[in-house]
Amino acid sequence: MRKPFIAGNWKMHKTVEESTALVKAFREALGDFSGCDVAVCPAFPALAAVRGALTDSAIGLGAQNMHWETQGAFTGEVSPLMLQGLCDYVIIGHSERRTLFGETDDMVNQKLHAAFDYGLKPILCVGENLEQNKAGETEAFVGGQVRAALKGITAEQARQITIAYEPIWAIGTGVPATGEDANRIIGQTVRGTLANLYDDDLAQTVRVQYGGSVKPDNAAEFMSQPEIDGALVGGASLKASDFAAIVKATLENR
Ligand code: 13P
Repeated sequence: MRKPFIAGNWKMHKTVEESTALVKAFREALGDFSGCDVAVCPAFPALAAVRGALTDSAIGLGAQNMHWETQGAFTGEVSPLMLQGLCDYVIIGHSERRTLFGETDDMVNQKLHAAFDYGLKPILCVGENLEQNKAGETEAFVGGQVRAALKGITAEQARQITIAYEPIWAIGTGVPATGEDANRIIGQTVRGTLANLYDDDLAQTVRVQYGGSVKPDNAAEFMSQPEIDGALVGGASLKASDFAAIVKATLENR
């Protein structure tokens, strides 16, 4: 049985003070929980403060990105060494990184390797754009992204990855995929590719989230799907009560 995993990607929102207030409100709204993993991913400047606000909490902490090198002349970048011990998770290859900041499959692959070198648990994002979706290219494209990202990743490492299937056209649009479609892409394409690269057992072990306009009122539709193991939530994770409601919907629909 895969344990569900709900992560909140706060993107470029919230000052340090606002981040601390948000995570405190979220802790309170959620209360004690068991049966799923939960994490928040604030912007870099807020990581340390949010870590502090999460003392004695089961809620994990993630970064939204990192460079693959340990240190060096990379102005403006943050390294895996800097995140080690501070974060549990790191989001890698989010579509906004890929489309707005030119991240390639090769860079995503290097970041994945770096995450394992430094004991960070990666959340690998994949997903097609609207044009590819309309052209019937989703399976080939998403399968290709998974394949490229996992180049040289051992089976032991692959088992620890969370993959987030986030169709780009569903991100921030209020138009999510249907639970059925997301379930099919995750089951056939994401797990299918994992089975191909490794084996069936591994494909059934890896947690795969859905992301893209997940809200309290549609969370149950996704969480009740057999192939979907949680969500990577953007906008709705910025409101403590909404994000707590999504976690609760997850626990009630497994
Ligand atoms: P929204 O939930 O705002 O659509 O964002 C999804 C996302 O990109 C999470 O990484």
